[in-house]
Amino acid sequence: MADITPFLPDSAARDGAGQVTVGGLRLADLAREWGTPLYVYDAVTIRQAVKRLRIALSAYPAASEIAYAAKAYFAPQFAQRMAALGLDGDVVSLGELRMAYSNGFAPERIHLHGNNKSADELRAALALDIHAVVVDSLDELAFLEGLAAEAGSRACVWLRVAPGVDVHTHAYRQTGHVATKFGLSLNDGQAVEAIRRARASRWLDLTGLHAHLGSQVFEVDPYQEAIRRLCQLARDTDFTPQEFSPGGGWGVRYTEADPDVAVEAWVQALAETLQGESRMGGWPLPRLVIEPGRWLSARAGVAVYAVGACKVGGDGTRWAAVDGGMADNLRPALYGAAYTAFLPERPDEPATERVNIVGKFCESGDFLLKDALLPPVRRGDWLAIPVAGAYHLSMASNYNLAPRPTALWVEDGQVSLLQVREALLETGWWA
Ligand code: LLP
Repeated sequence: MADITPFLPDSAARDGAGQVTVGGLRLADLAREWGTPLYVYDAVTIRQAVKRLRIALSAYPAASEIAYAAKAYFAPQFAQRMAALGLDGDVVSLGELRMAYSNGFAPERIHLHGNNKSADELRAALALDIHAVVVDSLDELAFLEGLAAEAGSRACVWLRVAPGVDVHTHAYRQTGHVATKFGLSLNDGQAVEAIRRARASRWLDLTGLHAHLGSQVFEVDPYQEAIRRLCQLARDTDFTPQEFSPGGGWGVRYTEADPDVAVEAWVQALAETLQGESRMGGWPLPRLVIEPGRWLSARAGVAVYAVGACKVGGDGTRWAAVDGGMADNLRPALYGAAYTAFLPERPDEPATERVNIVGKFCESGDFLLKDALLPPVRRGDWLAIPVAGAYHLSMASNYNLAPRPTALWVEDGQVSLLQVREALLETGWWA
């Protein structure tokens, strides 16, 4: 079995019996008590991650902020904890806006994204007077302006610009290239036109520029290039941004094959490039807003499953099926995402067998790990997948009428509920 330590939450440890604990609690005990699939979030990992980002951002000699991208994972109790850490919120729907607002994110700490915001979403943003609506198109600029005039309230806006910069990540996670559905394109003058129109509007208050290049990215150069292009745009239009957001997207390691590039390298590159460009523009330094989702929540989460049917196929392939799969973790099916797995009751047993870890859903694409090297896996084992805290539960479905799972927050031996397993059916209903 691969060394799992780099993928585990910060509070993870082995107890006296060699079992894996998180927040001082055995994963196997939590699974037994709460049922599986089970998601366990570690408080220490989140807190440490926020602290690390804040320290990195302190190198930027002006105001800066971390806006948590709620789409990575959000639930009321989780939102409350993120708000209590003093984070801003990046939301992308009426649902996320409401959850942020109702759980401690002050409206002036929330900004709203989306390539097709509804009238309700924009009206809510206007009524709550949130920090910024991140306008994605010329169409939306006019739509928002009309709604703002109707409501008689001015809207603070950032413009999301598609800078035409490529990043190396799965095609479905690229968002800053020329052929993207997101943002105002730079190369055909739409971004220039949006700046002109926003500044001319009495209902819009243009305060910032934004770009988001993609997700699970490990290279700093595209971010630097995007900042340069957006700042050139600002200089060309004689616009002084008060705020500047290069988005989120910094990657995390899921397996040993993923690069190990510290988040500090990213933040430092953003801070330095923005300083240099602001100097060229002769502006005061804008407030720098980063929007990490995955980097804050992924490694905090561990998914625990019960192993059920195990078999050897006609071609000799070994299969072990768990009681979750693509309904709680769509990432392998959608992006071919790779993971590491371990057996929380015997993490240090020698890995001697190659096995496909699959889910219980009626799709051949319902796999979690292909050809994983593990100790012999048998019915009744618990199997854990680390780095499960982002884009699992937030993308979960009820496929095959599976209830979405329980998620727990663990800290110093204490458990609290983040979300409870959906009550789609009760055990014993057939009796
Ligand atoms: N800002 C904007 C405007 C975004 O669209 C996103 C993510 C983020 C920030 C946060 O990105 P992060 O730091 O989490 O990479 N479902 C995919 C990821 C989709 C990301 C969508 N946008 C996955 O599971 O890999």
